[in-house]
Amino acid sequence: MKNYVLVTGGAGYIGSHTCVALAAAGYTPLILDNLCNSSPKVFERLARIVGGPPPRAIEGDIRDRQFLDRLFAENAIDAVIHFAGLKAVGDSVADPLSYYDNNVNGSMVLAAAMQSAGVKTLVFSSSATVYGEPERTPIPEAAPCWATNPYGRTKLMVEQMLTDLHSADPGWNIGLLRYFNPAGAHESGLIGEHPKGKPNNLMPFVSQVAVGTREYLTVHGNDYPTIDGTGVRDYIHVLDLAEGHVAALRHAKARAGLFAVNLGTGAGASVLEVITAFEKASGRKVAYKIGPRRTGDVPASVADTSLARSLLGWQAQRGLNQMCVDSWRWQQANPNGYDD
Ligand code: NAD
Ligand code: WQD
Repeated sequence: MKNYVLVTGGAGYIGSHTCVALAAAGYTPLILDNLCNSSPKVFERLARIVGGPPPRAIEGDIRDRQFLDRLFAENAIDAVIHFAGLKAVGDSVADPLSYYDNNVNGSMVLAAAMQSAGVKTLVFSSSATVYGEPERTPIPEAAPCWATNPYGRTKLMVEQMLTDLHSADPGWNIGLLRYFNPAGAHESGLIGEHPKGKPNNLMPFVSQVAVGTREYLTVHGNDYPTIDGTGVRDYIHVLDLAEGHVAALRHAKARAGLFAVNLGTGAGASVLEVITAFEKASGRKVAYKIGPRRTGDVPASVADTSLARSLLGWQAQRGLNQMCVDSWRWQQANPNGYDD
């Protein structure tokens, strides 16, 4: 029997790229996804990238305990990388119960099923959103954690729940990975991010303006205390992020206990710098208008990456230009995402 790494949410944006990185590192992913924000077409695309048959994928929900118990009983699963959840900040304000249910309850049901099955190695998708409004950048992992919206609170609650679980049973090995701003796509152009409806995040919005789906970008404020007045973020290539998960999994499997690590590049880029980089990568003009600040936005969010380097031996390899080139390739080849 194969030893699987269970990848919840493995059909999604970051999960699918992580399946590529896992396969490249010799692991066998087993994808569990309810496809609420992804397409089954990703499986065939993964097969084309990795070579060979598609990864094993099972449609199901992390909130379904009986289903999870069967899954663990019927498959040799060594470890879990847990991406499944909802991620739109605005939706979490409008519909908090769905967020607490999918993200908090879902993680609790998953952890309980893992405990029953004796699988105690877990890598969890957290977010830089747990730093709330950071006092300074770059942000170290020891910075105070608090959340400014329901989505952020779900991530913080799951971090706290898993920390309590590890205190109660130090046999658990748990990586809490705090992602900064994922961007880009696989260099093949076969997998990438295609948000349903109007994108909330900058990079998909910019690429939809470049491809002509949207007329212009609204820049949310140009009066921040930053290099050009627009918001600064630490954009990280999704494949670097994926490789960070492999490094974290290796570390967790070496019985590392509980660890929280930032996954970012350590370099910030402003909204205007992203626009310029995207114009260069695409050869297209990205029209924009300056608008007011967006409620809840912070001026700057950039990772202190020293712990990721020393603990995981991992650091991002790809820069903003590569993120734009790869996003553009994906966007052009798949203007409707995975839909025909
Ligand atoms: P995504 O929506 O593309 O992927 C999430 C996947 O989980 C989807 O395929 C969805 O169908 C699945 N899913 C959702 N609820 C489920 C459930 N109850 N049971 C089974 N499957 C379920 O999102 P992503 O960008 O790949 O994000 C992955 C994880 O990383 C999320 O937990 C997100 O909160 C976190 N994260 C994302 C970002 C970002 O900007 N993309 C930043 C920080 C953290
Ligand atoms: C980046 C910059 C905007 C859109 C969010 C979540 C966070 C995490 C990642 C999951 C900011 C500006 C954006 C636009 C703009 N997700 N912008 N016009 O807000 O840093 O983080 O996604 O965990 O939790 O909050 O990312 O891409 O939305 O914004 O000017 O149309 O682009 O103001 O400065 P953010 P973003």
